Amino acid sequence: MKAIVAVDLNWGIGYKGKLLERIPEDMKFFKQTTVGKIVIMGRETFTSLPGGEPLEDRVNIVLCEDKKFSDKKITVCSSLNELFDELKDYPTDEVFVIGGEIVYRELLPYCTEAFVTKIENTYAADKYFTNLDEDDRWSLIDKGEFKSYNDIRYSFIKFLNSNPINLEMKTEPQ
Ligand SMILES: NC(=O)c1ccc[n+]([C@@H]2O[C@H](COP(=O)([O-])OP(=O)(O)OC[C@H]3O[C@@H](n4cnc5c(N)ncnc54)[C@H](OP(=O)(O)O)[C@@H]3O)[C@@H](O)[C@H]2O)c1
Repeated sequence: MKAIVAVDLNWGIGYKGKLLERIPEDMKFFKQTTVGKIVIMGRETFTSLPGGEPLEDRVNIVLCEDKKFSDKKITVCSSLNELFDELKDYPTDEVFVIGGEIVYRELLPYCTEAFVTKIENTYAADKYFTNLDEDDRWSLIDKGEFKSYNDIRYSFIKFLNSNPINLEMKTEPQ
């Protein structure tokens, strides 16, 4: 399982239910990386998708406690154990955690890698990703070159988890 996220310099990821920034090349990278794969998201992130529609050409798994929440185009899981059970059908390498804050926090310990788009800016934010620069379990293994879009500098970087929880165990942490 892998995480994919766009963060600002404070590791902020969202504000008032929205992304902090929309950078076309980042959107393209997200699509290229996740198309044909399995994406896991929280209900808040799902409802914030453009048009309220699932992401095309991907298996969309949405975490939501409300058992009545359903949509024929998505798979809804109402607990982590239900999610882990569902994931038995898929290669773990093809599973991407795509947000938001709550779901990243819950599933990051299971992720082997994190694809991070680092935006060299600070924004008003109310949702955050774990600061991987300050987390001993994570190390920066790939630092991409700086790019820019409308005066916004950003880079695609990658972190590796030295001790992920084995997803094969498929149990919630005690
Ligand atoms: N920068 C990025 O890359 C990025 C990516 C994605 C999202 N975001 C941003 O993140 C923000 C949304 O994050 P968020 O933390 O508010 O919400 P979220 O993580 O998207 O969704 C949280 C909801 O998911 C459900 N859920 C989570 N864990 C569950 C579990 N174990 N079992 C059952 N249901 C579970 C619950 O829904 P119910 O309450 O319905 O049960 C919970 O309220 C937005 O601002 C969005 O734009 C940023």
